[in-house]
Parts: sequence; C-alpha cells; structure tokens
Amino acid sequence: MSERINSYDLTDRVVVITGGAGVLCSKITKELGNSGARVAALDIDRDGLDELSGELTQASVKHLALETDVLDRKSLTDAADVVKQRFGKVDVLINGAGGNSPEATTGPEQSFFDLPAEGVQKVFNLNFLGTFLASQVFGEVFAEQGEGVILNVSSMNAFTPLTKIPAYSAAKAAVSNFTRWLAVHMSQNYSTDIRVNAIAPGFLLTEQNRYLLLDEETGELTPRGKTIIEHTPMDRFGDPKDLVSTVLWLIAPGSEFVHGTVIPIDGGFSAFSGV
Ligand SMILES: NC(=O)c1ccc[n+]([C@@H]2O[C@H](COP(=O)([O-])OP(=O)(O)OC[C@H]3O[C@@H](n4cnc5c(N)ncnc54)[C@H](O)[C@@H]3O)[C@@H](O)[C@H]2O)c1
Repeated sequence: MSERINSYDLTDRVVVITGGAGVLCSKITKELGNSGARVAALDIDRDGLDELSGELTQASVKHLALETDVLDRKSLTDAADVVKQRFGKVDVLINGAGGNSPEATTGPEQSFFDLPAEGVQKVFNLNFLGTFLASQVFGEVFAEQGEGVILNVSSMNAFTPLTKIPAYSAAKAAVSNFTRWLAVHMSQNYSTDIRVNAIAPGFLLTEQNRYLLLDEETGELTPRGKTIIEHTPMDRFGDPKDLVSTVLWLIAPGSEFVHGTVIPIDGGFSAFSGV
C-alpha cells in the first residue's frame, strides 16, 4: 500500500469563521469558498454579512451568514446548531473576530494613565474572550466528532508589543498563549486529530489601523507608518491576500502534523533588527 499523501483539498469541508464580515476575514471566507469549502461567516455586523452573502451567492459558494456575538455563548451555540443542521458537521473554526479601539490607544489626547478600564476591557474581551468562547463551543463539537481544526488570529504584537496599543498587544499575547494551551489540551483529553494553530499577521492596512498608519487628510504615511515601512524588508504593508495561502495551508489536512504553532506573516519585519 502506498503511503498516504497529505491533501490540500478543501472540497466540501465546513469552515466557520468569526469576524467573517470584516476586512481580512471576508477575503479569507471568499477564497476558502472559491477553493470548494462550505463557509459559515459569523459576525455582529448584519449589513456586512448581507454584503458578503451577496458576493458568495454570486460566486456560487455554499454558505451561511449568521449574525452572532462572539462574546455571548448562547449566540455561539445557536450558530453552531445552525451550521451542524445545515451542513451536517464542522471541520474548521477560524477565530477572526478581533481588533483594537481608539479608546484603548495612547496618544497626545489620552495618556497611558488616562486609558479607561472599559476601553481596555472591550479590546481584551473581543480578542481574547471572543476567541476563548468560540473555541469552547466549537471545540466541543470537534471533541464529539473526534476531529477538527481551530485557527486563531493573533498578531505580531503578541511577540513584541508595539507602542500605543497596550490592551491589544496583551490580548493577542493571550491568544497566542491560549493557542498553545488548547493544542495540548485537545490532544491530551479529546483527540490527536484536533489541531490548534494561529496566524500572526504583521502590518496589514485595514480600517482598524488606517487612522494610525495614513494621515486622514493627505493620505501620506504617518510617522508611525513610515517607521513600519522602513523596518519591513519587503517594503510594503501586507495585503489581506497575503494571509490566504497560509490559512489554506494551516486548515488543510496537508498540515496534519502542524500543531500548537503561531505563524508570522509580516514581510520580514520581525527578522530585521533595523541595522
Ligand atoms: N489589520 C491588521 O493589520 C491586523 C494585523 C494583525 C491581526 N489582525 C487581526 O485580524 C483579525 C481581523 O482584522 P480586520 O483588520 O479584518 O478587522 P475588521 O474590523 O475589519 O474585522 C473584524 C470583524 O469582527 C467583527 N466583530 C466585532 N465584534 C464582534 C463580536 N462581538 N462578535 C462577532 N463579530 C464581531 C466586526 O464586525 C468585523 O466584521 C482581527 O482579529 C485582528 O485583530 C489584523
């Protein structure tokens, strides 16, 4: 008998993606759909979901667009029930809901000492608790099935914190740490066919960070944006499509021995000392 060759085929695999209506995850959702996966986008943004659903319908992608709050366990279990009922199973959970907030960002108008606890908590909850709760709900589905893949969305901030955004950096560090914890926990307690990994995108230009990287009036790089580009060997911000191939690899059966990792996608930023 010939040895099994690892597969990168996603045909009919069922992928749930939180934050699916957002800038990065809508792109990932569409690409996974185009690769043959059945996709379920979970997001609190109804309008964004409707727009995404229209595009997926046009591309003949089998999909669900479910209004879901990742901070509400009942909302997540309801979504899981719908996905199981409509698609019969869940193969992959991508925890994409996340982001920073101006309320948790230091600057000339708001020093570290003035950051409101509510702003810090909001960012921490969205990034960490939202990942944790969705992993509980869909992790239980995977434990019942005896297989599944969880892919978290961390950030390069998790390795080395960036200035100005302490809550976001800490929350993503927690996501990376939790990724490793969950990988071990699922293997030891449920199944060695459940994998858990994370991607750590570097500087991608999206709505969440545009105000930090580009001057709103001139469109020129801010001093912070300039510093980033000067320290990125590839000399550009990342684009959502840069994430897609790594996501395809990490969720496909072909990466079946990749477990408990956090993969940087940063154009070499973290490799460059600046000299
Ligand atoms: N943009 C970057 O440069 C970058 C870099 C590293 C990591 N990331 C991470 O990538 C992920 C996607 O980021 P993005 O730039 O596309 O942001 P985005 O704001 O476009 O997308 C986030 C999505 O999450 C949804 N969301 C917010 N709260 C929610 C909740 N309670 N329940 C369900 N959905 C909720 C939003 O409606 C939105 O559609 C985030 O986790 C972000 O932290 C982004």
